[in-house]
Amino acid sequence: MRFPRDDGSATGTGVGLRLPHIQEVVTTRPAARWLEVHPENFIANPHARELLLEAHRHYPISLHTVGVSVGSAGGIDRGHLRRVRALADSVDPCLVSGHLAWSTHDGEYLNDLLPLPYTEETLRLLIGHVDEVQDGLGRQYLIENPANYFGFADSTITEPAFLGELAERTGCGLLCDVSNVYVSAHNMGYDPYDYINKLPPRVIGELHLGGFTPEPDDAIPGAEIFIDTHADRVAEPVWALYGHALCRFGVIPTLIEWDTEIPPFATLLAEAARADQMMARAVESDAIRAAAC
Ligand SMILES: [Fe+2]
Repeated sequence: MRFPRDDGSATGTGVGLRLPHIQEVVTTRPAARWLEVHPENFIANPHARELLLEAHRHYPISLHTVGVSVGSAGGIDRGHLRRVRALADSVDPCLVSGHLAWSTHDGEYLNDLLPLPYTEETLRLLIGHVDEVQDGLGRQYLIENPANYFGFADSTITEPAFLGELAERTGCGLLCDVSNVYVSAHNMGYDPYDYINKLPPRVIGELHLGGFTPEPDDAIPGAEIFIDTHADRVAEPVWALYGHALCRFGVIPTLIEWDTEIPPFATLLAEAARADQMMARAVESDAIRAAAC
C-alpha cells in the first residue's frame, strides 16, 4: 500500500527517517504517514539531500534539529540557522522542532544534548534565543522536553512550568516526548502522569515515542537508571503513559524515534500502527463521551 502526499500536514503517526533507510523509502514508498529527519544529516550531504527532496514529493517532512542549541549561553549560531532555513524552504516542513538543551560552546559542536538549570535567568536567555530561532526559520519552533539524568540544585522552576512559560512568552509550541517524560520521572523520582498533567495542552504540537535502555545505576547498588537510547521498541509503561497523553492533549501528531541499532523499516511502521490504533481509540472514546453529554 502507498500513501500519497495529501495537504502536507502531519496527521497520525510518522516515523523517523534515518540515512540507512532513505534509499529504500524513496524507491519503495512504504505506507508512512509522514517522516521526521535531522536537518544536520542533510546540510552537508548533497546525495542525501537529493533523496530527501525526492521523499518530500511523497511524504510530509518534519525537521527535528539537533544542532540549534537554544540553551547555549554564547548565542545561536546564525550560519547554522541559515543553513537549516535553506533546507526548510526546500521541504516546506509540516513541523520544526528542537530540544530544551545546549549542545554548542565556543563554536564547538558537542555530541550531547546537555541540561539547563531552570531559573528566571535561563528563561530570559531561552526566550531571546527561541525568538531568534523562530525569526530566523520563519516558522514556529516546537521545544522538546529532555531526558534527564540529574537536576540542578539552583533550579527554581519545574520543567513543565518552564516549558509552559517559554511557550507563553515566545509563541513556540511544545513537543512532548512521552518516553523522555517516563525516563526522566524514573531517574529523578517523580510521577510521569503528574508531569503530563502540568503541561499546557493547547501548545502541544507533537509527541515523540522511542525506546530506552535500563542500565545499572553506579551510585545506588541494585538500582537502574534509564538511558534515552532510541535503540528499542517503545516500552509497555510508555504506551500506557502515551494513552494518558492522548486523553490530556487530544490527538496530536506522533513520531516513532529509533536512532541506534536501527531495525527494518517495517518494524518502525508496526510501532507507528500501534500509536495510530491508540489515537483511533482516543477519538472513539471522545465521541462516546461527547454523545453522552
Ligand atoms: Fe524525542
